Amino acid sequence: MLNFVPLHRFFQDSIMSLNFITAQEAASVIKNNDNVGFSGFTPAGAPKVLAQALAEKAQAEKQAGREFKIGMFTGASTGDSLDGVLARAEAIKFRTPYQSNSDMRSCINKGGISYFDLHLSQIAQELRYGYYGKVQVAVIEAADVNDKGEILLTTGVGITPTVAHMADKIIIELNSQHPAYINGLHDLYEPADPPYRREIQIYKPSDRIGETLLKVDPSKIVGVVKTHLPDEVKAFAEPDETTKCIGDRVAGFLVSEMKAGRIPASFLPLQSGVGNIANAVLGSLGASPDIPAFEMFTEVIQDSVIEMMQSGNVKFASGCSLTITPSALDSIYRNWDFFKNKLVLRPQEISNSPELARRMGLITMNTALEADIFGNVNSTHVLGTKMMNGIGGSGDFTRNSYLSIFTCPSTAKGGKISALVPMVSHTDHSEHSVKILITEQGVADLRGKSPLQKAHTIIENCVHPDYKQMLTDYLKQTKGGCTPHSLGKCFNMHQEFLDSGDMRNTKW
Ligand code: COA
Repeated sequence: MLNFVPLHRFFQDSIMSLNFITAQEAASVIKNNDNVGFSGFTPAGAPKVLAQALAEKAQAEKQAGREFKIGMFTGASTGDSLDGVLARAEAIKFRTPYQSNSDMRSCINKGGISYFDLHLSQIAQELRYGYYGKVQVAVIEAADVNDKGEILLTTGVGITPTVAHMADKIIIELNSQHPAYINGLHDLYEPADPPYRREIQIYKPSDRIGETLLKVDPSKIVGVVKTHLPDEVKAFAEPDETTKCIGDRVAGFLVSEMKAGRIPASFLPLQSGVGNIANAVLGSLGASPDIPAFEMFTEVIQDSVIEMMQSGNVKFASGCSLTITPSALDSIYRNWDFFKNKLVLRPQEISNSPELARRMGLITMNTALEADIFGNVNSTHVLGTKMMNGIGGSGDFTRNSYLSIFTCPSTAKGGKISALVPMVSHTDHSEHSVKILITEQGVADLRGKSPLQKAHTIIENCVHPDYKQMLTDYLKQTKGGCTPHSLGKCFNMHQEFLDSGDMRNTKW
């Protein structure tokens, strides 16, 4: 267990009068069929102990011949102690949005959980619009709380303000891993719903427009469960040859755009996606002497951003979560005076706001599972059918960016899959939104090109040598049109992988 700095709670006087309960008592508040909204974003700030008690309750109910399942609204993925525990207990009726837990994924792909994927900027407002019914209970991890209903959130904001305001009942997990002096880290703002919505008055990543504390009706807080558990954030894999090469190509491309005058010399705020590749890309940007120190307006702030802040490469980061390994978080808390004016956490409808992405001119960098030779991108569905994680914020940012970049290795599964195919097996980002595609093979600049020109550019620059001739031959046997395709053959590569386990055997 890490030796965190001692707590200095703001609310010491009024905290005493709160109703402290056990996780089991908290679980008894949640009924079969309830819709439950959870705090946090990624494992950061997600509740950590209630789910185990809920799983035990689901098990006991099942043994008594009764069903116990909840509807689950989250900011994004959570930790294994929430998503994993509830998936294994078969205690989820439906879930939205993004998830990344292997047991959750497997339940979804077997049809055991009704899952629908959403752009992360949209879920809070769609909950408020009433698209998904009521929220009976909100479960919120807090660094501090008082009997006036003021809540200091922890490392992830997600949809917390919205589910807290909508829910009939609120359960708090008060996690003493987080010191109360982080008050000021959050900027909580919920836009009014149409027809009363106004512009979001953020013009640069460090602007603040909201409250630092979440304020709820204190009579809704049914109990507070004490915890002392770190966020279940795992370290990323160290960049390998391929991901490092992709990262270096992204950095080189951005430098060439600056030299061409298409990116201002002062640079523009960056958004960076999740995963190993995104992590490697950030590493390369930090190492590039030609990229000036920049600001981030992003969704997930991960370890590499913190390292780049320490080295002076990142001046400020606005995000929705500090998805940071426990040791890196410990170092942030210990050096709070250094970090406190360099970080802000916002609800995801603000961190991922299309209005703000467009206004600030974000350079967006996200990862594709596969792309087609015309520039359409699949970020979510393996072979068009199996859900990987979800679209996350990639659509929020890509469609509204100043410059959208997608990266991926040119092959997967030891070369048996080409990430570049004639037609994507599922479309998350259409060719209208995807401007630049980068693999370890090279950079395809798709701006201002016709579909056929895009195809030639992608095959020439991004496709692995094992698949170049195959994709060139595919194009040759199409019969005209603005976007030339052979509808009978465009999924031959996917089908070949399903049949023989290797796309390299594909015949047209
Ligand atoms: N077909 C089948 N499987 C593929 C594939 C393809 N075309 N391309 C990659 N894969 C597999 C990899 O082999 C790997 O499988 P493994 O875990 O069994 O080894 C897996 O997909 C993930 O690939 P990895 O190389 O580890 O990439 P990553 O960690 O960088 O994650 C995404 C990539 C696309 C899954 C991830 O970025 C994501 O979920 N993106 C969508 C949401 C998003 O962009 N959010 C950020 C917005 S702020």
